[in-house]
Amino acid sequence: MNLVDSKKNEAIKIAMVSGKGGTGKSTVSANLAFALSKYGKDVVIVDTDVNMANLELIVGMEGMPITLNSVMAGNADITQAIYEYTENMRVVPAGVSLDELKFDNSAELEIIIERLNSMCEVLLIDCPAGLNQDVNSIISSADHVIVVVTPDITSVSDAIKLINLSSKLETSVLGAVVNKITNDSSELTTKAIETILELPVIASVPEDDTVRANAAYGILSVQKQPESGLSNAIMELAAKLTGNRYIPQKGSSSTLVDKLKRLLKR
Ligand SMILES: Nc1ncnc2c1ncn2[C@@H]1O[C@H](COP(=O)(O)OP(=O)(O)O)[C@@H](O)[C@H]1O
Ligand SMILES: [Mg+2]
Repeated sequence: MNLVDSKKNEAIKIAMVSGKGGTGKSTVSANLAFALSKYGKDVVIVDTDVNMANLELIVGMEGMPITLNSVMAGNADITQAIYEYTENMRVVPAGVSLDELKFDNSAELEIIIERLNSMCEVLLIDCPAGLNQDVNSIISSADHVIVVVTPDITSVSDAIKLINLSSKLETSVLGAVVNKITNDSSELTTKAIETILELPVIASVPEDDTVRANAAYGILSVQKQPESGLSNAIMELAAKLTGNRYIPQKGSSSTLVDKLKRLLKR
């Protein structure tokens, strides 16, 4: 699935969507953006969830003076709303100003996505949850869609609407990222999710207690805990998308398990 190199002179635009809110689109998108940048891609991530802007918190960029909201309100140019997170990863925060907030930005979003498209190699579009005019425009402007679900029936069944919309708009859905997996027996299995959605699960991301604390400090898990299950899952997804092979990093917990196994074998 080497998507990122498939179109040499243009960015690959990937919309990160979900039916239900809170499945972890922003968390997965921000970590994936960093992971893709680690594979040498020049990545821009844009938060289009203007009502519930939280990407800026996750990357510690809250309170930026010029945001996507300012651009959509006609008060600034998109080039003024792009902020560097690292050399290869830039962020367009949505902003939280109620003065500039509008509820239908679909026409502006299409223009902004085209502008951003010419400025990077991978454009990750962190979407609002559910279906609305903005999401419709984003999906029709994107090359691909990734749907983020949690392993429960409501989240998965709500995702079907987004998948149907994408197919109506002729935008390919790469697959589902299953987030917040606890391996509780009540959870839907990967196989069940693949059957219901008729899509491959392209990443299985565990529930991780450190995510909230990282968000509070504005640092990404893939940077802070590269050996965690979450980081390994996201790095592996980035590797798949860029046609690379990823060797999982072993953390202290698996080392402890290995040590115990060795002790028990004696
Ligand atoms: N893998 C995870 N493990 C634990 N908490 C998570 C995980 N992914 C997201 N969260 C938490 O779930 C909440 C919603 O995540 P967020 O990324 O903002 O979702 P969305 O963008 O879909 O609304 C946040 O509090 C976030 O810290
Ligand atoms: Mg979000």
